[in-house]
Amino acid sequence: MSKPIIDARNLIAAYGSMQALKDVSLTVEKGEIFGLLGPNGAGKTTLLACVEGLHKPSQGSVHIGGINVQVDSTATKRQLGIQLQRTALMDDLTVAELVEVYAALYEVYLTSGQINKLLARFDLVEKRNTLARRLSGGQQQRLALAVAIANDPQIVLLDEPTSALDPHARRAVWDIVRQLHNEGRTIVLTTHAMEEAEALCGRIAIIDRGQIVASDTPSALIANLQLSSMLKATVELPLEQVRSLPSVNNARYTGQHLEMETAKPEVTLTALHELAARSGSSIRDVMLRQPNLEDVFLKLTGHALSESN
Ligand SMILES: Nc1ncnc2c1ncn2[C@@H]1O[C@H](COP(=O)(O)OP(=O)(O)OP(=O)(O)O)[C@@H](O)[C@H]1O
Ligand SMILES: [Mg+2]
Repeated sequence: MSKPIIDARNLIAAYGSMQALKDVSLTVEKGEIFGLLGPNGAGKTTLLACVEGLHKPSQGSVHIGGINVQVDSTATKRQLGIQLQRTALMDDLTVAELVEVYAALYEVYLTSGQINKLLARFDLVEKRNTLARRLSGGQQQRLALAVAIANDPQIVLLDEPTSALDPHARRAVWDIVRQLHNEGRTIVLTTHAMEEAEALCGRIAIIDRGQIVASDTPSALIANLQLSSMLKATVELPLEQVRSLPSVNNARYTGQHLEMETAKPEVTLTALHELAARSGSSIRDVMLRQPNLEDVFLKLTGHALSESN
């Protein structure tokens, strides 16, 4: 296998007595979309900040393209495009001026034609002479992405690129991320939305309380833990009998709805039908939910992804 493009080893990072990263190691291969999935306060931004060279870890190292970030941050920063979680864009500049200024920070000097081409990708050409502070939330998020790639970086680091966006704007950002990936760029993004990690990322690391608890493709993470599916049905049956049906790991009632955790939903459903027929009950509204990353998170950490640390 080729050398990873990002190689973070044994990172320990603290803010005073608060340990934000506790011995975190991570490798990202060239050309992948890699997701850091974790709740508020898990350490995602701190980990990106260490990779970016913006936070000095108290222990451990980060290499980008084989170069140590702590030793030559100018060389490593040239390869990076960065979208911070809270981008304080200079909002008294116009959209076009901002892109020009950010590229120039990396010693990349864009012509007016190049700026237009970049803005066109983000559907912002019409806004080129508008002050950044007059943009809508979704437009500002797209501008933050345009600014992140103004220096034409190989690696793009996006800290919650879709937080606070409505579903339409969120999908527009997903499309942009996929385009950047199709151009051969390596993307690392953070999110606490498991559907975003599933939709975009080839591999993810689940991070909780400053530690990576698992890292793999979303499907392997789900498959390896052999999690139960959730079968829901509206039916009245004695719970003890339901619990003894084949493959049922757990069962409960929420209101009229029977919820069953099952390793083999087809087997359980057939047995449930037989039990209902024997008892003279009818089954209405059957719903099956396959295990997802939310379940993986709960199983590995003992708490829900939506809970803060
Ligand atoms: N500048 C700081 N000073 C003190 N503590 C900090 C600072 N930045 C982060 N922390 C703490 O470090 C821990 C990790 O924070 P971090 O911002 O890396 O989490 P995160 O995963 O990015 O969370 P979120 O999803 O809310 O952005 C948290 O407990 C946070 O309170
Ligand atoms: Mg963060």
